[in-house]
Amino acid sequence: MRRFLIGGNWKLNKGIIETSEFATYLLKKDLNINNIDVFIAPPFTSIPKALEVFANSTISIGAQNMFWEEKGAYTGEISPKFLKELGVQWVIIGHSERRAIFGETDEWVRKKLNMALHLGLKVVICIGETEEEREEGKEKEVVENQLKGAIEGVEFDASMISIAYEPIWAIGTGKTAKPSDAEEMHNLIRELLGEKGDKVRIIYGGSVKVHNAEELLLQENIDGALIGGASLDYESFAEILKIAGEI
Ligand code: PGA
Repeated sequence: MRRFLIGGNWKLNKGIIETSEFATYLLKKDLNINNIDVFIAPPFTSIPKALEVFANSTISIGAQNMFWEEKGAYTGEISPKFLKELGVQWVIIGHSERRAIFGETDEWVRKKLNMALHLGLKVVICIGETEEEREEGKEKEVVENQLKGAIEGVEFDASMISIAYEPIWAIGTGKTAKPSDAEEMHNLIRELLGEKGDKVRIIYGGSVKVHNAEELLLQENIDGALIGGASLDYESFAEILKIAGEI
């Protein structure tokens, strides 16, 4: 009953030339994606090109971050209103790289979430523990706190929000959470979401590749994937979309 959501997080990769090449090759593939939702989040400067080259497809475009105000004296920030004006539909908020490298806090995540919802942008909120936190057995507590920090007191429609569980130790490392461990965490997140839990898509991120996608996506509470490295290569991204489309 929950459609799969597959997001490609390109991080700081692909300028406009590579964006068009990727689209040309990807769209030549026989993609069976009518029953799933797909977005690609390129770097900001490649967004207009991505919107152009994917315009006649069912692939939507997302942003990897945004600011919590629409406009003003915020040198260097990206307005969510202007993203919306471009035609961006999704925004990733609270990615662990934003938290670790740029000091993004739960409070910022909540402010961004409120603004995104106000503007009608769909949001993927990223949460997940570090390796150390998992070793200390604190992973559930950390994830619970991050989730609460992001959504507590926020009014939302379940169709506008997805949660990406991304254990930090699995991002870009080739280590993936065991499907059963990921499933356990997704189940916990769903419970924490309360009455809306059934409708919110909870997707997994962290070294999702062609060889492990099916096993992860077959878990009852895994409703899709946020894919970094494997989304940069059109062959592997197409393959993962095919796997999701056929489940
Ligand atoms: P990865 O990245 O697939 O390269 O591990 C996932 C993410 O950071 O969203």
